[in-house]
Amino acid sequence: MVLGAVLPGLVFLMLQRTWAQYGPPPQPSIWAVPGAVVSKGSDVSIFCRIPPGVITVRLARFVPSTVWYDGTPQGAQEVFEFILKNITHSNAGVYYCDYFRGGESSRSSDNLELVVTGVYREKPFLTADSGPQGISERM
Ligand SMILES: *[C@@H]1O[C@H](CO)[C@@H](O)[C@H](O)[C@H]1NC(C)=O
Repeated sequence: MVLGAVLPGLVFLMLQRTWAQYGPPPQPSIWAVPGAVVSKGSDVSIFCRIPPGVITVRLARFVPSTVWYDGTPQGAQEVFEFILKNITHSNAGVYYCDYFRGGESSRSSDNLELVVTGVYREKPFLTADSGPQGISERM
């Protein structure tokens, strides 16, 4: 069986070519739409640019605390979108993305600082007005 002996060699060559084509995992890039400064209650999309063949793409926040979201790209998708809806101040912080391909983890992207603007709603704070009382005491 000549074929049986030749096929494993061909498969090996093809794998080598695949590695040569892709090289080491390129650094992903990250950006936010409409931007990295968003008002409370709005939605923001964080995009990560990744190479083909990625199994898992991860958006991670490491400041002020660690939170991460994993995504599964479809097919040869090269831009992955993470949508954060109705954001609050608890979504603010420093994010980056990275990905896994062929059992290897990529370098991290640059950092993206998400800033959330808007007044933090608190219960109305009532104070007693002691001004007139102070004046009457003096008289
Ligand atoms: C957004 O979040 C706030 C606070 O958690 C909530 O009161 C409000 O109903 C949410 N709005 C939407 C559209 O989900």
